[in-house]
Amino acid sequence: MPKFTKTLVTTALPYANGPVHLGHLAGVYLPADLYVRYKRLKGEDIIHIGGSDEHGVPITITAEKEGISPRDVVDRYHQMNMAAFSKCGISFDYYGRTTSELHHQTAQEFFLDIEEKGIFIKKSEKLFFDRKADRFLSDRYVTGTCPICNNTEANGDQCEQCGTHLSPLELINPKSKLSDATPELRETMHWYFPLGRFQNQLENYVQEHEETWRQNVVNYTHTWLNQGLKDRAITRDLGWGIKVPLENEEALGKVLYVWFDAVLGYISFTKAWAEQQGRRERWKEYWQNPECRLVQFIGKDNVVFHTLMLPAILMAWNEGRQDGRYNLADNVPASEFMNFEGRKFSKSRNYAVYLGEFLEKFPADTLRYSIAMNYPENKDSDFSWQDFQNRTNGELADTLGNFIKRSVDFTNSRFGGEVPCLSTAEEWNGLGINWAESLEQLDSAYEGFHFREAASLGMDIARAANRFLTVSEPWKVIKIDREAAARTMALSLNLCHALSIALFPVIPETCNRIHAMLGFDGRIEELVTAGKSLVAELLLPGLHQGHKIREKSEILYTKIEASDIAPELAKIEGLLADALKRETGEEQQKMEFKPVISFDDFLKVDLRIARVISAEKVHKAAKLLKLQLQVGSVTKQVLAGIAKYYTPEEMVGKNVVIVANLADRTIRDEVSEGMILAVEGSEGKLFLIEPQGNEINGRQIQ
Ligand code: 2FM
Ligand code: ZN
Repeated sequence: MPKFTKTLVTTALPYANGPVHLGHLAGVYLPADLYVRYKRLKGEDIIHIGGSDEHGVPITITAEKEGISPRDVVDRYHQMNMAAFSKCGISFDYYGRTTSELHHQTAQEFFLDIEEKGIFIKKSEKLFFDRKADRFLSDRYVTGTCPICNNTEANGDQCEQCGTHLSPLELINPKSKLSDATPELRETMHWYFPLGRFQNQLENYVQEHEETWRQNVVNYTHTWLNQGLKDRAITRDLGWGIKVPLENEEALGKVLYVWFDAVLGYISFTKAWAEQQGRRERWKEYWQNPECRLVQFIGKDNVVFHTLMLPAILMAWNEGRQDGRYNLADNVPASEFMNFEGRKFSKSRNYAVYLGEFLEKFPADTLRYSIAMNYPENKDSDFSWQDFQNRTNGELADTLGNFIKRSVDFTNSRFGGEVPCLSTAEEWNGLGINWAESLEQLDSAYEGFHFREAASLGMDIARAANRFLTVSEPWKVIKIDREAAARTMALSLNLCHALSIALFPVIPETCNRIHAMLGFDGRIEELVTAGKSLVAELLLPGLHQGHKIREKSEILYTKIEASDIAPELAKIEGLLADALKRETGEEQQKMEFKPVISFDDFLKVDLRIARVISAEKVHKAAKLLKLQLQVGSVTKQVLAGIAKYYTPEEMVGKNVVIVANLADRTIRDEVSEGMILAVEGSEGKLFLIEPQGNEINGRQIQ
């Protein structure tokens, strides 16, 4: 293991096709910022590189929807997202764009290097082509009926209704989204990256890291490795993207696949950062230096692109090189998702709170704090307005704000605005907090990416401090024992100082205001750049006797009134009502429009009670479970789209209702010999119909 002397942090590049919302912030950008700010506080050498993903189909689809050019789309959202991040205090060292020249050059350089080494494979395949639009259609430009759930609006890459990953060729009645025409199949050639060629190297790489990686990261990666890595097309027939840098017929009209170029954005943006610093070669200290640790923050949907795809591209580059070898990620802390008021954020349904809009109404630190306290580390979490209001009022205003203001005000009114005496380490320990231990906990929380714990530890100190001041009652004690009151205030002010450091990563603006109230000039960030560890100061009382604080205190947080969040709650109610209308409307439509069947037809349906004897997940179909059912004396295999709501373990032993005489269907190379019955709940959740009883297996339902 090399000893790391530097850290390079990267954050997933959001597509510049819409505004970032709180889900993005919670999963990727805030945790990265907490980590980076903490390491800077420790005096470490660390940079944070991010930026916009500006190529690919998501951009061209938005452009077509809005009737503007892809360039207009990315210009708009790049600026918007960068401004929102900055207002939120996400402290990027560089926020780049994949449409920049330097990025194009970098991605093309990688392509050429791998091409010249003869690593890519060229393959011809048949893809859908829209004659009217005169274009090949990438997966998302094809729509049609899902072969699994019959949703008539399934996308070429995935069915949103049942979640199954699809290829456009699997759709029933495929249609082009560009012209509504039925597309035809045409031959086209593409470059493929042979991931399988790196299978062994990748397995070794993953094995070396799996003890320190999160379980979800290890699991997703293993699933891919276990299936055997396949060739991946890394070019597309598209007009928007980075041109394949070859001067021949084959390369005409071809661009690099967006994921191939996006992951290289981390590198080109670090180069751009170095140029901006006036030290062009400096990016190599972070990318081509085994002493630099690469940490990549992403959401769980991006795992394999970072644990397999990017490492394989870098391995290909490194092949045959002694110098100029790239580092691979040491850790890839992937988050789970944050929901919004119990439901998934959805850009397409506008069910979201956008970061920029939020910050027009509420201060960044209130958001940073409440999101940090709900960080989706190991499981999905939730953002709710009520929780946001409670945390802001109860924790930030009543606990932290109140403590700081009382300490500053009382020192000013009774001790001439000076720290009245020295504080000792023993007194600190008298608070019931073991400082050395707390510091260790804080450190391992940040270093281990446990950001909820890190934020909680800071607030625990604030709580203990607030309690201490209240219980010590210096305003009473001063009348009989001025020295005792002085000790209380010296300790309180030192705690204010400690809090301004301990909570700095989470609520940096607030901590700078505390810092100013304590009489310091300049910002905490400026102290940090000196490379001195401010965290180490948490162990010492940092304010000395006679230190002069500012004369005026300020209210750190204004409380959030019910009337402040009422419009937000009303908005959600509206969105939920719309969703409900859509759901029930659809249901009514189905009831009204399904053709009437005769009683005899109904009798043809053989409904039976079956018992689940085993259940397992299905490869590449996140929503499907493969069930073995006992139907009386017969065993049947059924594929059911319920994996989101039921685990294989809990399915075993259940009684279900099955359509037992349905014609067999092949789904994902597996035969399904029937269908089990379920009811759709209000949020799309499926509930199985579960007849109770031991003696009913195989019985017919009449
Ligand atoms: O999922 C996304 O939003 C992608 N734009 C993430 C890209 S991360 C990296 F590759 F740049
Ligand atoms: Zn479907």
